[in-house]
Amino acid sequence: MLASGIWGITASSWRRVAKHGAGAVTTKSLWLKEHKGHSNPVIISTEHWTLNAVGVPDAGVEKAKEEIGEYNKDKPVPLIANIIAESAENYAKTAQAIVELKPDFLEVNISCPNIEDEFGRPFACSADDAAAVTKAVKAVSGDIPVFIKLSPNVENIGTIALACAKAGADGFTAINTVGPGMAIDLRSRRPILANRVGGLSGPAIKPIAVKCIADVYKATEGKLPIIGTGGVATGKDAMELMLAGASLIGIGTAVADRGADVFAKVCEEMSAWCDAEGVASCGELIGGMHRSFSS
Ligand SMILES: Cc1cc2nc3c(=O)[nH]c(=O)nc-3n(C[C@H](O)[C@H](O)[C@H](O)COP(=O)(O)O)c2cc1C
Repeated sequence: MLASGIWGITASSWRRVAKHGAGAVTTKSLWLKEHKGHSNPVIISTEHWTLNAVGVPDAGVEKAKEEIGEYNKDKPVPLIANIIAESAENYAKTAQAIVELKPDFLEVNISCPNIEDEFGRPFACSADDAAAVTKAVKAVSGDIPVFIKLSPNVENIGTIALACAKAGADGFTAINTVGPGMAIDLRSRRPILANRVGGLSGPAIKPIAVKCIADVYKATEGKLPIIGTGGVATGKDAMELMLAGASLIGIGTAVADRGADVFAKVCEEMSAWCDAEGVASCGELIGGMHRSFSS
């Protein structure tokens, strides 16, 4: 599926991605009200990684309602609405507004700093805060499954996942970007991003994604689905995340590197590998790394 923040703004871009083989699309993070992003330059890429500091810009839920409404008229693949806020109360308000449009899942980006916390720490960094957001969203989400999008930038991602599971999470997305990181221009001697630092994505973060997914799967005993996201560019990458515990795969940065066809190509590469290895269904791979120790 298409990961959040990449081409995820309009109904026509979701349809385009679906046409190229994505099994589902995720919106960019949606705020209750308009939210301005950072100044340019906001992104720098090499073949190994991308650093971005777009700053989660968004026009607010009213605009999102128009686009999701338009997409719902002729929905080729399921839609995951990703929401973000700076307080548990606003997460619930945003979820409530979006739930009316009946997205297939809600994905809750908890990487935003909590304005009610003395140090403004992201919700994703505290088990209590992450659980409070989960509970607030679950209280208004009705029968729409709620996936919590976890940050790798924590001491123990399993503890955070378990707290969210106990608060009612239906699944997880792991991971959001790593870091932050910084890149410096040699001539000007200044950071390349106007924001100085940005979140790291792309091939370089795949081993971190694999470890985080394995930790979340273990902490929750493999009982909840995980959308594995982070550094997937090929079918082999996707299957590695599945062995760690992912049952769905999100692709972000690789859409820029391999084009929109990346979704169809990854699926073809997975099928070809499974055929060659005598694996009847790639679903067999989910959590396979954990079972390899018990057999
Ligand atoms: C330019 C850019 C914008 C992003 N915007 C969002 C966003 O709005 N909400 C969110 O939850 N994640 C966002 N992400 C994170 C991705 O959804 C994904 O979790 C991360 O990039 C790791 O996957 P990848 O290596 O396949 O890109 C963004 C990533 C990039 C590169």
